[in-house]
Amino acid sequence: MPKFLEIAELGNQILREKTKAVEDVADLYTQNLIDDMIYTVAEVNGVGLAAPQISQPLQIFIVASSPNPRYPDAPEIEPIAIINPSIIKKSDEMEKNWEGCLSIPGIRGLVPRNKFIEVKYLDRFGKEKKEQFSDFLARIFQHEYDHLNGIVFLDRMKSTKDIITEKEYIKLFD
Ligand code: NI
Repeated sequence: MPKFLEIAELGNQILREKTKAVEDVADLYTQNLIDDMIYTVAEVNGVGLAAPQISQPLQIFIVASSPNPRYPDAPEIEPIAIINPSIIKKSDEMEKNWEGCLSIPGIRGLVPRNKFIEVKYLDRFGKEKKEQFSDFLARIFQHEYDHLNGIVFLDRMKSTKDIITEKEYIKLFD
């Protein structure tokens, strides 16, 4: 049975540390961790979760986009485990949109991101994947990828005036 993992919040040093590449994807520890992360992100209505957020300094994150109360317009995809990723191309075109973070509860920020990216990573079977993402999925990927480098979305913002509370955010989309 997968278990719920405690989420580290802003102020916890683990969120600011660099992560290590996963050496053996097939390892039982890694496989259990992936299952626990997929379970945890669904329990808290997240669309992504990176290993440092559950206090593991490893290059693993989950992209788990589906419509939920926190992200009503999210596209529906099966959760994907992304291991040892790199971003190999980025569009010049940037787009600002709202982001939240499970490690920064209660607020949302308007964050500029590259609209299109090309990435490579290992999937949970150790298979090398090369893919392109755009819009919301590209945004999730960049947000989670940043977590692997000790960066949170606040670091990407252009103005503190682009920060709002979750309560006001919900009113915007009512
Ligand atoms: Ni986050």
